Amino acid sequence: RAAQQAQSQSMSEALSQACDYYRAQLKSAANAISYLKQRGLTGEVAARFGMGYAPSGWDNLRTIFPDYEALALVESGLVIDKVDEDGGNKKRYDRFRERIMFPIRNTKGQVIGFGGRVLGSGEPKYLNSPETPLFQKGLELYGLFEARQAIRDAGYVLVTEGYMDVVALAQLGFPQAVATLGTACTSTHVQKLLRQTDNVIFSFDGDKAGRRAARRALEACLPQVSDNKTIRFLFLPQEHDPDSFVRAFGADAFAQEINDAMPLSQFLLREVTGEHDLSTPEGRAATQYDAKPLLQAMTPSSLRLQIVRGLASLTESSPAEIESLFELSKPVSS
Ligand code: UTP
Ligand code: MN
Ligand code: MN
Ligand code: MN
Ligand code: MN
Repeated sequence: RAAQQAQSQSMSEALSQACDYYRAQLKSAANAISYLKQRGLTGEVAARFGMGYAPSGWDNLRTIFPDYEALALVESGLVIDKVDEDGGNKKRYDRFRERIMFPIRNTKGQVIGFGGRVLGSGEPKYLNSPETPLFQKGLELYGLFEARQAIRDAGYVLVTEGYMDVVALAQLGFPQAVATLGTACTSTHVQKLLRQTDNVIFSFDGDKAGRRAARRALEACLPQVSDNKTIRFLFLPQEHDPDSFVRAFGADAFAQEINDAMPLSQFLLREVTGEHDLSTPEGRAATQYDAKPLLQAMTPSSLRLQIVRGLASLTESSPAEIESLFELSKPVSS
């Protein structure tokens, strides 16, 4: 255990030193600065998020880590060991090269990983730190540390898909935004969000992947919603994400979208209705069929009852019929 602690500590120190190095590099990287400017970012917001730049070159980190062979560098994902074809000779090189660096922090503010974006086009668009004992993608939310006070002030959190969404929103007046790191929203994410606030607004990309992400977020939320929490979904036009939307239409237009965000109950009913024809018994039955697992995932609450009522009226049934058909558990009486 003590060994484990020492390991995380040296990883954490390595990541924090690398973060400082990337930040310093950004100051003199004309190409990176011009890319960020072209995307409308100010130096101020870049500094707020500790953004940096990993220059070109295979072993720049040697300049800050005299012991480039240290184990912590591989373990933290900063460097990669390439094993020669003959199996022997290991060659070590920097993972991040020629990329805009976004440090990912845990809720204590410690750097636990990075996302690195290519300047312009190139694959992969974002290179992320590998999973390490400090960094598990499905558990972390980018920007949560930076957004904590703003979430309290605003009374809600905005959940987006991307690094750029968080940074752009912060710059344009919405510092209460975080991002799932390109993974589906997990129940751990939801737990972390609900620990900060009772009001969550998911705002994913308007494309197909974003709509799928909203559906996954809905499913992750269902077991955790309760009557004092409000979960809503903001759907952007197909070709937009929060970053592009707020830049194209402005902060007021985005604030309006926040106002108009769809409550979870409405999204759920829309999802289960889908393409079914509610004017036919088959369509109404199929709608109930699709609703069953979602309602079963919810704990008994007034909200669940309200959704059952909504479903009942859509499908020409009574709430009692749905409750018994779905074998919904009754609230535990106290
Ligand atoms: P997007 O493709 O929507 O990128 O991926 P973006 O955030 O809008 O980035 P820009 O505006 O093109 O710069 C959403 C998120 O998915 C993860 C990243 O966290 C990204 O922010 N992702 C995406 C990756 O990890 N790797 C990739 O190659 C692409
Ligand atoms: Mn996308
Ligand atoms: Mn996007
Ligand atoms: Mn984008
Ligand atoms: Mn169906």
